[in-house]
Amino acid sequence: MDKNKLVNQAELIQDFFGEDTEPFFDKVTQFNQLMMKYNSAIREVKTKLEILNDELSFKGEENPIESIQSRIKKPMSIAKKLRKLGKPITVESVEENLSDVAGIRVICPFIEDIYQVAEMLIAQDDIVVIEIKDYITAPKPNGYRSYHMIIEVPVFFSKYKQPMRVEVQIRTVAMDFWASLEHQLKYKNENTKTTQIAQELKECADVIANTDLRMQNLRHKINDKPVEKP
Ligand code: GTP
Ligand code: MG
Repeated sequence: MDKNKLVNQAELIQDFFGEDTEPFFDKVTQFNQLMMKYNSAIREVKTKLEILNDELSFKGEENPIESIQSRIKKPMSIAKKLRKLGKPITVESVEENLSDVAGIRVICPFIEDIYQVAEMLIAQDDIVVIEIKDYITAPKPNGYRSYHMIIEVPVFFSKYKQPMRVEVQIRTVAMDFWASLEHQLKYKNENTKTTQIAQELKECADVIANTDLRMQNLRHKINDKPVEKP
C-alpha cells in the first residue's frame, strides 16, 4: 500500500479510536515494513503450495489445488481486531497478538485434496504448526466448513530471518461458494428475515457437504478406489 493511502487510513483509525492510536499513527513506516514482511511470508507459502501442485500434476495425478487466493488484513481491520482483543493498537502489538494478518485461501476440488495439501505442507521441515481448526470434521453451527491452519514460515531478509505467521484456509469449491454468500449475512442486523436466511443457508451447507462427499465417491468409482459412506 502506498504511503499516502496508509496515512489516510491511519487518520481514519485515529478518528475512530481517539488517542489510543497515536503510536500507531507515528509508526507508519514501521507498519509498512511489517506489512512487507507478511507479504513475503504469503509469497513463501504460496510458492510451496504451487510447487506441490505442480509436482503432483507432473506425476499424472489430478491437481489437488484449484486456485490460491491471498490477502493482507487492512489497517482498519487490524485496528478493530486489536481493539476487540483489548490489546494496544501499536505495530509491536500486531506481531504479538494477531495470527491472521497474512491470509491464504486454498481452493481444492475434493475434500480428500484438502487433507492431502494440509499434510504435505505441514510435513515440510521449515513449517511450524501453531494451530489447526478442522471445521470439516466439526462444522460450525451455522454450517461453515473449512480446514484452518495457523502456520509459521521463516522468511529470510538481508540481515536476519524471521518466522512469520500465516493463516491458511483450505476448502472445496463448493464450501467456498457457500462461505462467500454466508459472509454477506455477517453485515446484516439480526431479524426474522435474516434468521430465516441463516436457517436456509444451514440447509444448503448440509446439501453441499453431502454433494462434496458424493462427488468424491464418484471420483473413486471412476478411478476404481474404495468408496466411503456419506
Ligand atoms: P476470527 O476472529 O474471525 O479470526 O476467528 P478465529 O480467530 O476464532 O478464527 P477462525 O479460524 O474461527 O476463523 C478465521 C476466519 O475464517 C474468519 O476470519 C473468516 O474468514 C473465516 N470464517 C470463520 N467462520 C466463518 C463463518 O462462519 N462464515 C464464513 N463465511 N467465514 C468464516
Ligand atoms: Mg482468526
